[in-house]
Amino acid sequence: VLGGGPPPIDFGTSPFATPPRDLIPLGTGYMDESLQPLALLRAAVGRAARRDHVFSRVPSEGLEPLRAWFARDIGGELSARNVLIVPGGQAALSAVIRALVPAEGGLLCESPTYFGALAIARASRIRPLPVPSDAEGIRPDLLEAAVARSGARVLYLQPNYANPSGALLSTERRIALLEVVQKLGLFVIEDDYARDLAIDGVVPAPLVRACPGHVVYVRSLTKTAAPGLRVAAIAALGPAFERLRAARAVDEWFVSGLLQETTLELVGATGWRRHTEQLRSKLRERRDAMLEAIDRELSGLSRSSPLGGFSVWLALPPAFDDLELAREAERAGVHLNAGRLFYPAEPDAPHVRLSYAGAEPREIREGVARLAEVLRRR
Ligand SMILES: Cc1ncc(COP(=O)(O)O)c(C=O)c1O
Repeated sequence: VLGGGPPPIDFGTSPFATPPRDLIPLGTGYMDESLQPLALLRAAVGRAARRDHVFSRVPSEGLEPLRAWFARDIGGELSARNVLIVPGGQAALSAVIRALVPAEGGLLCESPTYFGALAIARASRIRPLPVPSDAEGIRPDLLEAAVARSGARVLYLQPNYANPSGALLSTERRIALLEVVQKLGLFVIEDDYARDLAIDGVVPAPLVRACPGHVVYVRSLTKTAAPGLRVAAIAALGPAFERLRAARAVDEWFVSGLLQETTLELVGATGWRRHTEQLRSKLRERRDAMLEAIDRELSGLSRSSPLGGFSVWLALPPAFDDLELAREAERAGVHLNAGRLFYPAEPDAPHVRLSYAGAEPREIREGVARLAEVLRRR
């Protein structure tokens, strides 16, 4: 007998399944190899492998110098003692959501939001609860009502270039949000997955810096470096930190010393900063190619205008079935994501998410042209 009820996702159709290789990849949240710092990574692994004790047991909180690097990266008053090293953002979110939200409880989130966070909640019998959001991010003025209605106390949030909407939480809303959070004694799970993916302007300081007692911060390097560098950090204070430290040790014991040492070598390499600059400039080319192609081929549809990150949120005409469209696009050789996967509750309108992380400008133009052809046929 298989325990634990039905699986939390339909693996075959969910974005957790590896996309078919022969399609134009507009449905991936990871950079393709041309955007990964492969030479730096290879050199970093080589140097890391020669270090002493690299295959030995390491502390379950993570290596102190790597914890300190993440703490410095966050800035403010957090130190290495507030940081846990975990194998990727998904593992971080899983630990944090399960540690902070009681079973059968509710998790407040933007709508739409990252499908992976929704899947974690559902797998843990936690109800995702939508809070209205727009191009400036979550609406703090409506958060209070959502809390009053549901009694939920934890909010999952991507303040920077949210996946999939691309929204960047505005300065006014950051201030208003932290006021509500402090007033009501809420916890925010800040998923800063796109800290290194700013395209226009500068990414704002993490919320955790302004309000460390109410924010648990998650920062993964998989988008900046490579999906296979399964290293991320959780930063938290006090009882939240202690609870997470215990939960992580029970789940995993510790993250491989080889990966942690590799990460230290990578972020300390002279070419690291250059890599992040090149990444942003390549993402700009790709984003511009995608927006231009959408405006040319799909001019009647409304779309997001992301200032960073990797996704464009495209609204379909009201009667369209987004899942059906994703299937038809696949038959036309394009992989993309149906919008309904990203909704904590009923979708307000049909959408698709188009990602420019995994495709070159030429492929992006071709993919959007094929999508337009599919839409014209309907
Ligand atoms: C918003 C967001 N958070 C977290 C993750 C998890 O990424 P990883 O586990 O590779 O760090 C992803 C991956 O797509 C994401 O898009």
